[in-house]
Amino acid sequence: MAPFDTQVIQVDPKRPRPADLRPAADLLIQGQVVAFPTETVYGLGANALDPSAVAKIFAAKGRPASNPLIVHIHSLDQLAQIAVDVPDLAWRCAEHFWPGPLTLVLPKAMAIPYSVTAGGETVAVRMPNHPVAHLLLCLADRPVVAPSANLFTRPSPTTAQHVLADLAGRIPLIVDAGPAAIGVESTVLDLTRPQPTILRAGGLPQEALAQLLPDVIYAPRYHAEEGGDTPIPSPGMMLKHYAPGVPLHLFDGENALARMWQEAGRFLTAGQRVGMMIVDEDMALAGGWADHPRLLLASLGSQKDPAQIARHLFAAMRSLEQAGVDQILARTLPKEGVGLAVWDRLLRATEGRVVR
Ligand code: TXA
Ligand code: MG
Repeated sequence: MAPFDTQVIQVDPKRPRPADLRPAADLLIQGQVVAFPTETVYGLGANALDPSAVAKIFAAKGRPASNPLIVHIHSLDQLAQIAVDVPDLAWRCAEHFWPGPLTLVLPKAMAIPYSVTAGGETVAVRMPNHPVAHLLLCLADRPVVAPSANLFTRPSPTTAQHVLADLAGRIPLIVDAGPAAIGVESTVLDLTRPQPTILRAGGLPQEALAQLLPDVIYAPRYHAEEGGDTPIPSPGMMLKHYAPGVPLHLFDGENALARMWQEAGRFLTAGQRVGMMIVDEDMALAGGWADHPRLLLASLGSQKDPAQIARHLFAAMRSLEQAGVDQILARTLPKEGVGLAVWDRLLRATEGRVVR
């Protein structure tokens, strides 16, 4: 891949000026990839209707082609170009939750290349709720595919610095509008099944969807790995997806907190550097370990504020990893609201190895 001298441009997150985003839009129009902010995480965008532009996304991320992409739009008028036989339910979801952190899986239209859908007959679509994403999509004037702008298997980026850490030299441009407001990816809702099915918990809580769709079910698919001979029912849902570069131990169950501190003590005594993702309330049980020189704490905020935890999660993983810890410890938190998405991301990061 031709190495790029990756540019980072700063834009106002609330009132971006068209002139600031014009170069980014032009790159998209020319078939290049551009990283840009959304309310969930930073995305790596490309023209959804141009297979060679789409191919550049997979190359830049090192992402397998079996993992389909989400098409981003700025207006409902664009939907006809992307999906066919759009059910009433989809229009109602759009009316209630767009722009916002909800992705709808619908029957795909002809214009969408199979490289976007991993060869499938369905397509994922969302309308992001971020002034910068919105203006960029308007200026580019075409549907834009955008996976999270991280290297494959790395945590999703919630700042432009995270994008730069993963993709410097691999993409021409990053639009920086500060940290993402939600911090976990969109909720993926499949409307092509007999029952509306959440495939990925995300920024829009299941409880909110259930108000509109009382029969919505949550059916994530976890796979140890992708590829091989076994077909993948829901592509891209394998476990090794948000894996930090160091082992993550996830403590669950009644004594999770006490066990976590006990294990931290064991690693510290053995001379290791320990990173802990922790809610403020959990410091109470730190005992004598709290100020150990080889213990690094990454605060997720208060347990009472799941939105804050979601916002901090991926940044916490990256900061501990960058600090060079040997182990990362965390415990499961309540699954209410956006907490379900946090729980899911922790489970994926630990590759399913939960300490109970
Ligand atoms: O919040 C988000 O959704 C971010 C921002 C940038 O918009 N994007 C994002 O994209 O998270 P990505 O590629 O990292 O995740 C896309 C998810 C994957 O879990 C993929 O399997 C699922 O959407 N997906 C895409 N197309 C699908 C389809 N046709 N059927 C089922 N799942 C699909
Ligand atoms: Mg991703």
